[in-house]
Amino acid sequence: MIIQSAEFVASNPAYHTCPPTDKAEYAFIGRSNVGKSSLINALLNRRNLARTSGVPGKTRLINHFMVNNAWYLVDLPGYGYARISKKEREKWEEMIRHYLLKRSNLMCTFVLIDVRIEPKPIDLEFINWFGEKQLPLKIVFTKADKLTRVATERNVAQFKRALSDMWDELPGYFITSAETGEGCEELLKFISAENELYTQWETDRGK
Ligand code: GTP
Ligand code: MG
Repeated sequence: MIIQSAEFVASNPAYHTCPPTDKAEYAFIGRSNVGKSSLINALLNRRNLARTSGVPGKTRLINHFMVNNAWYLVDLPGYGYARISKKEREKWEEMIRHYLLKRSNLMCTFVLIDVRIEPKPIDLEFINWFGEKQLPLKIVFTKADKLTRVATERNVAQFKRALSDMWDELPGYFITSAETGEGCEELLKFISAENELYTQWETDRGK
């Protein structure tokens, strides 16, 4: 897919004030510092569309970007950020859960995992929650440029083993680097195919 245009649309505190659900939508989520904003910028070929920040846990809103006037990419606040109160964290997690469960045009959520870090309960629990709710997800391993190919494959295999207790058929995954652009084309290709599905559904629904 060629990115012809990409623009910020809006930041919203709740799913029901988000833009109209008339376009296919893809959400990006992961722990703070996993490389979410960097990957979004790499995918869209923009230096600073999604803000990369030195202050973790800053993004607390649902951020919509429109791509090629055809689909939405959504930057969600990271989960598991420790330095906030329990009450605030619960409120934030509820907002994300509501969005993920209720946003009708959400085609797929990409859960980002730093490929250097061993499987953490918070990531596994989050991914398993998708399985429980039968929501579509793909795992996106980030920062692959920081490891050798062998180490990357070893860590991916370890992550798959950690999931295999809960999953009969493991979720699909991409191995990416915002630094080298690895995996970006594959990810965009996947989105492109999903966009076609969405258009097909819309056409069928209109019939
Ligand atoms: P929050 O918005 O704070 O939750 O963080 P984020 O997940 O958006 O992470 P961000 O993109 O801001 O990146 C965090 C740090 O990791 C920055 O210093 C980036 O430069 C670095 N980083 C992100 N992706 C990559 C990558 O693919 N390779 C390398 N080497 N560094 C990366
Ligand atoms: Mg960010």
